[in-house]
Amino acid sequence: MDKKLLLLFFISFLLAAAATATAKSTIEPCTGGSSCYALLGYTLYADLKVSEVAALFQADPLALLAVNAIDVSLPDVENRILPSGLFVRVPAICSCSGGIRRSISTRYTVRPSDTLASIAASVYAGLVSADQIQEENTISDPAALDAGTPLAVPLPCTCFNSTDNFLPAVYLSYVVQQGDSVPGIASHYATTVTDIMNANSLGSPSVQPGDIISIPLPACSSMFSKNATDYGLTVANGTYFITASHCVQCSCGPGNLNLYCTPAFVAASCSSMQCSNSNLIIGNFTSQQTSAGCSVTSCDYSGFVNGSIITTLTTSIEPQCPGMHQLPPVISPPTALEHGSFFSPSPSPVAESGGTITNPRSSVPATFSLPGISPASGPSGSFSDAIVIRPLCHNLDMLAYSLFVFSLLSSVYGI
Ligand SMILES: *[C@@H]1O[C@H](CO)[C@@H](O)[C@H](O)[C@H]1NC(C)=O
Ligand SMILES: *[C@@H]1O[C@H](CO)[C@@H](O)[C@H](O)[C@H]1NC(C)=O
Ligand SMILES: *[C@@H]1O[C@H](CO)[C@@H](O)[C@H](O)[C@H]1NC(C)=O
Ligand SMILES: *[C@@H]1O[C@H](CO)[C@@H](O)[C@H](O)[C@H]1NC(C)=O
Ligand SMILES: *[C@@H]1O[C@H](CO)[C@@H](O)[C@H](O)[C@H]1NC(C)=O
Repeated sequence: MDKKLLLLFFISFLLAAAATATAKSTIEPCTGGSSCYALLGYTLYADLKVSEVAALFQADPLALLAVNAIDVSLPDVENRILPSGLFVRVPAICSCSGGIRRSISTRYTVRPSDTLASIAASVYAGLVSADQIQEENTISDPAALDAGTPLAVPLPCTCFNSTDNFLPAVYLSYVVQQGDSVPGIASHYATTVTDIMNANSLGSPSVQPGDIISIPLPACSSMFSKNATDYGLTVANGTYFITASHCVQCSCGPGNLNLYCTPAFVAASCSSMQCSNSNLIIGNFTSQQTSAGCSVTSCDYSGFVNGSIITTLTTSIEPQCPGMHQLPPVISPPTALEHGSFFSPSPSPVAESGGTITNPRSSVPATFSLPGISPASGPSGSFSDAIVIRPLCHNLDMLAYSLFVFSLLSSVYGI
């Protein structure tokens, strides 16, 4: 065969292999009908109102604001415009569907110029692939996509029992960006390289742009009854959650990781939030120094059951009387991208407005581990039965690549 032609094949093959070498994502096998609270890391593809971002995920705008610690009491906050490229957390219910954890409530209505690829890569910022949308909606001809068609958009999430190393955690599905490194991601999200490697079954601390990994965020857990609609509520440190038909807001941190719920004052009508046999409402406590220590009586929120706010009055003896509860700081809706903030698109330097990004770390070679390799066992990594789908085509690529190199060499050297 002509050597030049072979070389051309070889180069185009390399390009094709490079293009397919990005689709890794962490999945968690599951059984049964349980679900959990999870977060999706989303980068805005355009300037969008808070309510428009929420609508893309069928999320509640107030819940979206709360998980980003944005002040929900600002006037008309749902209509504030967030800048393109902003990274936000989106609250999601993570269900068990088809044997794996997925968030399956998102619907998207096709617009005139959309393609499956643009919906996946742009509108949903790489949280889903065109193939996944095609498969989920059994679309036979992706080229014939009619405007107005509703599409189910399956999104990646994990629960891992809402714990990490036996401590409460919320998992953030994160699309790896150009220039990210596992140590950078770990330090940005106050977790460790080991925890990320365990949760994602990474054989080495290496990720590629476009990979979707699960990042455990330290969180506060609840002990609500199974009858509560917000059963299993888990709130990430430094954030808020609006629950009980907008009547109650629960927060986590910064001082400790005990869930703290108070009236939310954004809803029009709420059932009583007062503890029975007491004048305290949820979030209130009284304390009194006694010879045994400090006697603390608190009125706590215990879930939303059948339209009612459940309260619990508890008295305990603490070594010290607590001070005023400190709430996580809230911010105004960001209007510009800021480096190194909670909202920065990725832990690494990123150009301000979609410019080019250069980072030497992005040239770290890919790992070609096989699917289902068990993780390095961390200190107590117990929930790491995630399988990272490292597509078989990777390995087929490598096989084909080797064959190609071999055939190239044989033609050149006449072996
Ligand atoms: C799940 O988490 C709870 C605490 O939230 C813990 O008691 C339980 O042992 C965990 N289950 C598994 C299977 O790890
Ligand atoms: C939950 O609801 C069931 C019936 O719906 C009831 O029998 C049970 O007592 C409830 N449990 C709690 C803890 O409220
Ligand atoms: C929770 O967040 C605060 C700051 O937002 C931080 O100081 C604290 O260490 C965090 N706690 C944990 C357990 O991560
Ligand atoms: C109870 O909490 C509400 C707001 O959550 C506050 O306005 C009120 O002062 C508190 N009452 C007591 C006795 O702490
Ligand atoms: C829920 O409340 C309605 C009316 O408030 C009542 O008829 C119904 O029995 C309640 N259901 C449960 C499971 O408690």
